[in-house]
Amino acid sequence: MLTINMRSDTQTLPTRAMREAIFNAPLGDDTYGEDPTVKEFEALAAEMTGMEAALLVLSGNMGNLVCLMAHGGHGDEVIIDPDSHIYYYEVGGLANIAGLMPMPVPSHAGMLDPKEVSAAIRAPNLHYPTPKLLCLENTHNRSGGRVVPLDLHRDLCQVAKGRGLAVHLDGARIFNAAIAAGVEVTEYTANVDSIQVCLTKGLGCPLGSFVAGSREFIARADRARKRLGGGMRQAGIIAAAGLYALKNNVNRLADDHRRARVLAERLNDLPNLSVDLRYVESNMVYVDHSATGKSTAEFTKLLREAGVIVSTRPPRQVRLCTNLHHDDATIDEVVERVAAVVRGERVHKGEPTCA
Ligand SMILES: Cc1ncc(COP(=O)(O)O)c(C=O)c1O
Repeated sequence: MLTINMRSDTQTLPTRAMREAIFNAPLGDDTYGEDPTVKEFEALAAEMTGMEAALLVLSGNMGNLVCLMAHGGHGDEVIIDPDSHIYYYEVGGLANIAGLMPMPVPSHAGMLDPKEVSAAIRAPNLHYPTPKLLCLENTHNRSGGRVVPLDLHRDLCQVAKGRGLAVHLDGARIFNAAIAAGVEVTEYTANVDSIQVCLTKGLGCPLGSFVAGSREFIARADRARKRLGGGMRQAGIIAAAGLYALKNNVNRLADDHRRARVLAERLNDLPNLSVDLRYVESNMVYVDHSATGKSTAEFTKLLREAGVIVSTRPPRQVRLCTNLHHDDATIDEVVERVAAVVRGERVHKGEPTCA
């Protein structure tokens, strides 16, 4: 077995079947509304998220941004978890491009507290920006892919709605969340005004995301996408992969979750490694390696030499993420290689490869 890439669920390569779907897709100019594959994809995306309309965009980052632009006016306030992807990892586009004012409300390991959200929504006052939007994220990346339970999600939406705010859901991995929670995606989307869903995570596409909302909202998002330079031509080559993924790669996410759980339990059993098993709820495993006495950079380098690529969460953790290229034997092999590294053996198994 070559190098095993556990860095992220974004590391997948399109399978042969997905490539064939791309190859065979009928195409047209999407800016003229004439790409049949994009139309079919957007209709299915809207249906699966229970929204009136959907729009294909190039990335999750772009999807969140067009939604923020479509929601708010410059200077309006957004209630947002500083550990959310939008706040933490999107280059400040919230403020820099959408012109919105963040009101950070920290989550507790990915879970926002409705009371704290309520307290952060300020009453109208000449001196304050106008609170317009609550941003949610599910699954929650930086907490280890935790799943926000439906009840808590509903409570948070209710707090926002009760105070006249709209709700945007960064559902980059909403299918993971719904499958892990044992509910329909539409139960999560029932109370939100917009959602962004990534095709490039567990769904296995080479690029693309979609946003969904009311017809009127998506018309505004479409203009925002164009303003960002995201208007596309024969975008059916992206949509074809998305269509394939929505039809074939959703239910199999349960396998990623099961394997992540097995991986987490087995890594937690190794000396000097620990995994907070309470937080392993979807496809991510955060491993605390601090008891090995090695820095995150050193530990990651040894793992790479042993043929396991992980991502770093310094100073104490590395992250492993399951995806559709992994099977049960992959997990066995990863555990074996990590165990050898922890025992202090110098293993040289890695070779440059992706999956
Ligand atoms: C929760 C979340 N939102 C948004 C994104 C952004 O997606 P992209 O990398 O396609 O821009 C990511 C990517 O990891 C993510 O984890």
